[in-house]
Amino acid sequence: MLNLAVLVSGGGTNLQAVIDAIGSGQIRNARIVKVISSKDGVKALARAEDAGIDTLVISAKDYKGADEYGRALADAIDEAGADLIVLAGFLTILSPEFTDRYENRIINIHPSLIPSFCGPGYYGLKVHEEALKRGVKVTGATVHFVDGGCDSGPIILQKAVGIREGDTPEILQKRVMEEAEWKILPEAINLIAEGRVRVSEGVAHISKGGEK
Ligand code: GRF
Repeated sequence: MLNLAVLVSGGGTNLQAVIDAIGSGQIRNARIVKVISSKDGVKALARAEDAGIDTLVISAKDYKGADEYGRALADAIDEAGADLIVLAGFLTILSPEFTDRYENRIINIHPSLIPSFCGPGYYGLKVHEEALKRGVKVTGATVHFVDGGCDSGPIILQKAVGIREGDTPEILQKRVMEEAEWKILPEAINLIAEGRVRVSEGVAHISKGGEK
């Protein structure tokens, strides 16, 4: 059984997709042992509590810097016995000490097809604003391992979403979530739980069901 710690900062719709996928059996062999939020009072915490999952708020403003904050997170994650850390709309930058400690054990969902529209400053609506401004015809979402850079770790899964006439950043954000993020995040977790994701030389490889 793969134990998940899910880190959140906001609405928690991706967290909800994972909770639902575990409930429906789409994700097998994984359970959420802790939801950690960087902010108090967010909807993601209510979603976790409704699902009977342990929650914790660990806020960066209560720590001296990224290293100290990372250690507080690590203590909570280790105490919960988590094997995989899922960043689901977690908006605080993690220290290199933290990302090194959990190499290939942290995944993130990003609302574009990396390496487009990613890196420092690309979060929330900004990602979709820039995609529309550039006039791309296809965007999407990416699940990737987290390394010491920003959106630079090995790519696990991507799903494309077409741009439509009349799209606004808000409309596009919603469609990317519904059609891509909420699908590939649970799918990636299930693949990892099945032991089917292997990283070699910075590239993630997925084996077919049945082989390892
Ligand atoms: C999502 O767009 C995700 O891709 C990004 O932050 C947003 C979080 O939404 N990393 P939610 O909190 O899961 O609803």
